[in-house]
Amino acid sequence: MDIIDAIKRRTSVRRYRPEPVPREAIELLLDCAVRAPNHKLTEPWRFAVLTGEAKAGLAEIRARHRLGRYEDPASGEARAAMEKVRRETLDIPAVIVIMCRLHDDEITREEDYAAVMMGTANLMAAAVSLGLGTYLRTGGVMHDPALGELVGLPDGFRIVGVLSVGYPAESEAPRRRRPAGDLTQWLG
Ligand SMILES: Cc1cc2nc3c(=O)[nH]c(=O)nc-3n(C[C@H](O)[C@H](O)[C@H](O)COP(=O)(O)O)c2cc1C
Repeated sequence: MDIIDAIKRRTSVRRYRPEPVPREAIELLLDCAVRAPNHKLTEPWRFAVLTGEAKAGLAEIRARHRLGRYEDPASGEARAAMEKVRRETLDIPAVIVIMCRLHDDEITREEDYAAVMMGTANLMAAAVSLGLGTYLRTGGVMHDPALGELVGLPDGFRIVGVLSVGYPAESEAPRRRRPAGDLTQWLG
């Protein structure tokens, strides 16, 4: 698929078919991620790929966070929501936890974060071209030491995204955007 089609068709995919994503496909996506522009070639990205049983730990962490959103965690509603998130996580074929170095210099830290997110965008577009869907999540889970431990977060790094990857269960139309033309001034 042409890269422009892949970018235009990408949308966040919540439901996946059960088949696993071949390891070579994930390797290719990660190779695309690290092609992102990177000022001073700091290579600030690190990745952990969770498949199979390795997702169980993430499922527990996400379930705990979901429970924390409820005033009464023992309520039926809270338990059902927790179960749903646990099940959803176990059903994601692969999860890539994206990490970024925290440079001492503030400007480099910002540029490094930008590079990692540009790499993530590369990866997400490349996934579409392989027929894969992705869903990027951030939130409190990223700061949970249990997730850091699960993925072996190196010292001086932080988690910047948790990305689901899999073959979409259904084809979804891309979500609405204002046309870029409405948001652009042409000068000159
Ligand atoms: C940096 C970043 C963080 C995001 N974090 C979350 C998140 O924590 N939870 C979530 O449901 N979606 C998250 N998203 C996905 C957006 O909600 C999603 O891209 C948006 O709804 C537009 O939908 P689309 O991706 O299908 O175009 C995040 C996206 C980005 C770029």
